Amino acid sequence: MKIFTNIKDIKKEVRQIRKKKLTIGFVPTMGALHQGHLTLMKQAKEKNDLVIISIFVNPLQFGPNEDFQSYPRNLKNDTRLARNAGVDIIFAPPVKEMYHNARTFIDMPNLTDKLCGKSRPGHFRGVMTVVTKLFNIIQPNIAYFGQKDFQQALIIKKMAQDLDMNLEVKILSTIRETGGLAMSSRNKYLNITQRLHANKIYHSLLKAQELIISGDKNYNKIIRRIRSTIKTIPKSRIDYIKIINPETLEDMKWAENKKILVAIAVYVGKTRLIDNIIV
Ligand code: PAJ
Repeated sequence: MKIFTNIKDIKKEVRQIRKKKLTIGFVPTMGALHQGHLTLMKQAKEKNDLVIISIFVNPLQFGPNEDFQSYPRNLKNDTRLARNAGVDIIFAPPVKEMYHNARTFIDMPNLTDKLCGKSRPGHFRGVMTVVTKLFNIIQPNIAYFGQKDFQQALIIKKMAQDLDMNLEVKILSTIRETGGLAMSSRNKYLNITQRLHANKIYHSLLKAQELIISGDKNYNKIIRRIRSTIKTIPKSRIDYIKIINPETLEDMKWAENKKILVAIAVYVGKTRLIDNIIV
């Protein structure tokens, strides 16, 4: 496995891979790898000749009062995990390498200002900008994203279409802890009690799914029910609980006979957790 920290060098490597007509599967990450990330990498390995991942804690997508400084970083352990998952190349640039004098941003009004974008202004602009740069550097055939970050995956998919990017965006299902909590690098911030309580997020999504499948069309009542479950998590603060159209992220007030997205964002202590389910 090779590790690159410099754009010029990895571009040279990519040119050689392209010359050999090998396909590239790409998994962008911010590191602190867990089974959710590794599942994306294993899938990429199955479907492509080579797997490249990026490990880059992107300052552009963190707000001024967010956890950029304290975000877990462990390149040594990540390297071991990536190697075991069959990754061929890691791209782990320093911040200066990625944003040397950069002045250009990518944005998508409307989809970026809802849900997580509402409480994290500028977040998706930072995500879209870094992902575009990474796509340009790596030139993947297929890029892999997780459904856990549903809004992010939707925005990236739409961006790739809108900007005629030469790649396919694949969205894979959420990998969970045994108790149901969606795996996340930020789960490291939770203590054992918080982790146990945080399982309620997924359990309330499952309950919502059950009610929707059984024909309950009173979405406000379902949201109230989720809210009362989440409120039993000590020191929690709900950011949003939404039942929405997964294509437009607009509220759904009645069953439109389409797929329905139930999405939650909640602070447990200081840790912001998100999860969702598609019914
Ligand atoms: P990060 O949070 O490290 O996640 C990298 C990828 O792993 C994302 O596509 C995310 O949706 C996916 N992922 C995270 N937890 C998952 C889980 N439990 N199951 C399945 N997939 C999961 O998302 C980012 O980094 C950044 O915003 C990034 C796209 C790298 C841009 O900086």
